Amino acid sequence: MLGLLLLQVLASCLWLGHSEVVTSFASCPNFFYDGTTPNDVLNPENPAWICQCYNDAYRYATLYNKDKKISVYSAYIYNPWPDKTHQTWFVEPQLIGKNNLKEMETEWYHIEKHKFTLDQINASQAVNADYNNLTGLERGHLNLNCHQGSRDNKTATFTLTNIVPQDTNLSKGQWNNYECKTMSINTQGCTTTYVITGAVPGNSFVSGGRVNRPSHIWSAACCLLDKNKTRAWGVIAENDKNKVQNLPLGQLEARLTSLYGGRAVTLFNSACP
Ligand SMILES: *[C@@H]1O[C@H](CO)[C@@H](O)[C@H](O)[C@H]1NC(C)=O
Ligand SMILES: *[C@@H]1O[C@H](CO)[C@@H](O)[C@H](O)[C@H]1NC(C)=O
Ligand SMILES: *[C@@H]1O[C@H](CO)[C@@H](O)[C@H](O)[C@H]1NC(C)=O
Ligand SMILES: *[C@@H]1O[C@H](CO)[C@@H](O)[C@H](O)[C@H]1NC(C)=O
Ligand SMILES: *[C@@H]1O[C@H](CO)[C@@H](O)[C@H](O)[C@H]1NC(C)=O
Repeated sequence: MLGLLLLQVLASCLWLGHSEVVTSFASCPNFFYDGTTPNDVLNPENPAWICQCYNDAYRYATLYNKDKKISVYSAYIYNPWPDKTHQTWFVEPQLIGKNNLKEMETEWYHIEKHKFTLDQINASQAVNADYNNLTGLERGHLNLNCHQGSRDNKTATFTLTNIVPQDTNLSKGQWNNYECKTMSINTQGCTTTYVITGAVPGNSFVSGGRVNRPSHIWSAACCLLDKNKTRAWGVIAENDKNKVQNLPLGQLEARLTSLYGGRAVTLFNSACP
């Protein structure tokens, strides 16, 4: 009974009730294999570590680039279930100055309920208006709706800190094929699959220079098999072509190493081969 209670408290987003600058994923290490995050080579100059909270539970983790207003990556556990449609989008209170709020909510709710202004919200992160007028690009999920197994877990993917401007043809084409077909083949026999999906910042911006247009979108998976065995793989795509390249995890890390300027990138800290 006490154990159950403790588990509930730990899962709840209110565990750290006081306002503090968060500099790690200490509240949600469970979304990373062995509690190990990618190394800091991916960290932007102005990062935010977001344990994504919806309906009083942590659903996944996102490293956010506050200057470029896109995520660096989202990390989650794969639990596929068919898509559900969803119309509203959330924004992240933890990015809006100092406050105690943890739950993702719509812009409207933050403005009505918490008395934030749209100026305060849009100064801290990308908002709906940034994505409403794009051509050839759409809202690309990093943690996918179709990779989550419950209604709340799916809903929690509809937050703009989990989104980057993604080439529409890629998003609807080869990337969708990887997400839905390749992933289900690759994960056969896996007991748990940890996924990290990210975006490499590009040289151009959309929405009047506010939001970066990533040059590449990538994803890595670490699958746990029986008897402590693991299997890993990766993919990467240029964000202006409908083409996805499948590659071993080590080669994906090498590609990211060169895209991020030469310091070695590790995604699962060698915990997964
Ligand atoms: C940010 O919000 C203000 C309204 O408070 C608006 O005037 C401005 O155009 C918004 N900027 C963007 C890029 O949405
Ligand atoms: C969207 O684009 C149209 C035409 O390109 C333009 O008239 C309109 O002002 C834009 N809206 C926003 C919110 O940027
Ligand atoms: C998307 O694909 C269509 C049809 O193949 C093509 O006409 C269009 O130029 C492509 N769009 C982009 C942004 O590449
Ligand atoms: C929802 O996500 C949480 C956090 O990853 C996980 O513990 C839970 O098992 C998920 N529920 C379902 C039904 O997938
Ligand atoms: C699996 O790994 C854990 C810790 O890494 C170890 O305690 C356990 O003995 C291992 N089990 C097998 C079957 O190798």
